[in-house]
Parts: sequence; structure tokens; C-alpha cells
Amino acid sequence: MTDTSFDKNRIKILLLEGVHPCAVEALTADGYTNLTRMDHALQGDELVGALADVHMLGIRSRTQLTGEVLARTNRLMAVGCFCIGTNQVDLGAAMVRGIPVFNAPYSNTRSVAELVLAEAILLLRGVPEKTQLMHQGVWQKTAAASYEVRGKTLGVVGYGNIGSQLGVLAEGLGMNVVFYDVVRKLNLGNARQIDDLDDLLATADVVTLHVPANRSTANLMSAERLTRMKHHAVLINASRGNVVDIPALAERIRGGHLLGAAIDVFPEEPKSNNEPFVSELKGLPNVILTPHIGGSTQEAQENIGREVAEKLIRYSDNGSTLSAVNFPEVALPEHPGQHRLLHIHRNTPGILSAINQALSAANVNVSGQYLQTRGEVGYVVIDIEADYSRDVRAALDAVDGTIRTRVLY
Ligand code: NAI
Repeated sequence: MTDTSFDKNRIKILLLEGVHPCAVEALTADGYTNLTRMDHALQGDELVGALADVHMLGIRSRTQLTGEVLARTNRLMAVGCFCIGTNQVDLGAAMVRGIPVFNAPYSNTRSVAELVLAEAILLLRGVPEKTQLMHQGVWQKTAAASYEVRGKTLGVVGYGNIGSQLGVLAEGLGMNVVFYDVVRKLNLGNARQIDDLDDLLATADVVTLHVPANRSTANLMSAERLTRMKHHAVLINASRGNVVDIPALAERIRGGHLLGAAIDVFPEEPKSNNEPFVSELKGLPNVILTPHIGGSTQEAQENIGREVAEKLIRYSDNGSTLSAVNFPEVALPEHPGQHRLLHIHRNTPGILSAINQALSAANVNVSGQYLQTRGEVGYVVIDIEADYSRDVRAALDAVDGTIRTRVLY
């Protein structure tokens, strides 16, 4: 498969699902004006039809980019997921067709950290219960079971991007921060790593979860572990739904062992705003329930729009695939005054030497070459001196195992 030679106006871009306007601004400012933005998702045949001559596609979580849809595209050369997750894309199918997929994994870190901090304060003051009572006309002015966060211990489980940023913010409020992580981490501020999760649970007044969903974190906060939490501690989960045993949590709150909880993610979440929310936590006192909006702020949407648009621009402008989720990652310098050839191929022995033989037979002087492989796919970027002819491109297209080539002028 061969793309037409590089010209920004010939790169057709389709953005679906109301991607933030700042993505449009970033792309058009860089010269990518052949761009259509739609507010809704497209599926199946409708999506295939819309993609007929599209080079770069931007989606959020609702557009299903299946292997079948990808197989029916002609020119698609990159996909931007303007969100965190990439489950909606068949990443393997995209990779073997030479299509890198980009996302914005950390654009909403701050949004999650702020929500968690606010929830820690509200839970230790018993605000969720008090506000519910007020709505029912009950005035219950009391300081019982109402605490400041200052001087309390925040236990962060999973000290990654969110957990570590939260720790810094919490220290600003005078909290002591301890964290548990499966990896040894450099602590920020005065945060202290604890080697055993049970020791953290025995110490923390607020336990907050910031781990990924994987085998080691499924049911991490089991009934047993919830029992090991301090009396009158609170639990916050804005990570993934299957990390907490929800029925056991409901029991610990009802029984008074825990003061409350704030839960943003659930084992079963409604698939749309039209479906009802079902959970054992409904109606419990001092429980904050939010519909998976930890990272959903205007600022995060804007960050995501800018970050993914920049990744698409960088790939289209100079071939860089840094942080692609399914593709060999290559970070490339600028290439002024030179042609840059992009060659995506099946990762089989001998292909690089076949590429170099083709270049040498065409009498091409190579000034730089960058190769990365990932699974079944290899990606080599070749900078050549200015005297380039179409025969070189044809010679590269003819190399056995070629998936796609592009030329950047
Ligand atoms: P990250 O990848 O930067 O950090 C995760 C940390 O958890 C890493 O330090 C890792 O070593 C650690 N970890 C992995 N397995 C562990 C285990 N079994 N026990 C303890 N630590 C473990 O991830 P980031 O960006 O901080 O996100 C954390 C979670 O938050 C993810 O699950 C993500 O999906 C979720 N998230 C939720 C949002 C929401 O809207 N509620 C928005 C953004 C992220």
C-alpha cells in the first residue's frame, strides 16, 4: 500500500465525537486545513464510508475501530484517540496495517488528584451525609465524627502519575503521605514508601487507590483487606472498578467500621447516560458516588485535544511515533533540506538489508537512519540527500514485506 507524497493540504483529517476545538486549532495552525469535525460517533458501514479517503482519524471512546473497519480503509495512516483508553481500537490490526494509534494517557492527572483531595476533606467532615439530611429537611449541627485532614495520614496505593501528584497536593494541606507500590519509587516531598499494603492500611486515615486494572489489582481491596483498614478510615477509588469488593465495602460502612467512601468507578458501569446505575452503595450514609468523572473536566479535554493533535502533527510532519500505543516508537530530529522516507514493514530477518540494497542500487546517499521494531512490525525512517527521484520510492515499495511507505519533503 502506498500513500500519495506528503502535502499538508492533501492530508484529509476526520475528527469524530466532538473532539475539543483546540485540536482543530492546533492542526489548522500547522497547515492541516483539510479537516472535518463531527459531534457524533460513526459505526460500521457509515464509518467505513466516511473513512474512504481519510488519512488521519480522531475519535473518542464510542467509535469502534474494529479489524474489519480497518481492513476496509485505503489511506488511513494514523489514528488519534482523544481520550485515555484505546480498547475501542483493534490495536493489533492497526499495527499490521502500518497505522500508529496515539492517545493522551496523562492529560487528566490533575483533574483526578483534585477530586480525590476534595473528597478526602468532605468525607472526614461527614459532609455527604449532612447534605443528604439537609435535603430531607433535617438540621443536625454536630462536631461528632468530623475531622480536619491536617495531620492525618493519606495512604496512596499506586504511586504513579496521579498518586504522586496527589501526594504533593495533600502535603500542602498538612497531611502525612505514605504510599504502596509494586515498584520502588522516588518519593516526592516527604512521602514515604511502605513495603507492605497491610501496613499502609493499618496506618492510613484516608486510603486512595490509583492502580491500573490488571491481574494483581483485581479485588485488591478484598473483604479481608477492608477489615484491615483503621477504624473510621475512609476509602476513595477513582482508579478502576474491579479493584474494590463493593458488597464488602457497603457492609463495612453499614457496620460503622469505615466512616465513608468515595467511589467513581464500578465493576459494572452503565454504558450510556440512559441506563440506570445499580450498586450496593446506593443510599448509604457518607458515601460519595460519581459517574466515572474523575478525569472529566474542561481542562482535561483541552489538554487531551492539544496533546493528541500534536502527536498526529508530529507523525505526519516528520514521522515521529513517540508514545504510540501499538507501534515501534521512533523520536526523530527535524530534517531540513533533506527528503525523509518512511518505511513500515513486516518484521522479518533481512528486510533492512533489502531496503539498503534498494537505496544503494538507486545511488542514494543516506544521511540518517532510525529503526525500531515492535512485534510483527518494523519501522525505519531514512533521511536522504536532496536528489531524490520517484524511482527510489518505487524501489522501496517493491521490497518484499513492505506494508506502507511515505515520503516527507
Ligand atoms: P500510572 O500508570 O502512572 O500509575 C499506576 C501505578 O500503580 C504505578 O506506579 C504502578 O507501579 C502501580 N501499580 C501497579 N500494580 C500495582 C499493585 N498491584 N499494587 C500497587 N501498585 C501497583 O497510572 P495513573 O495515570 O496514575 O492512573 C492510575 C489509575 O487511574 C488507572 O487505573 C487509570 O485508569 C485511572 N484513571 C481514572 C480516571 C477516572 O476518570 N476516574 C481518569 C484517569 C485515570
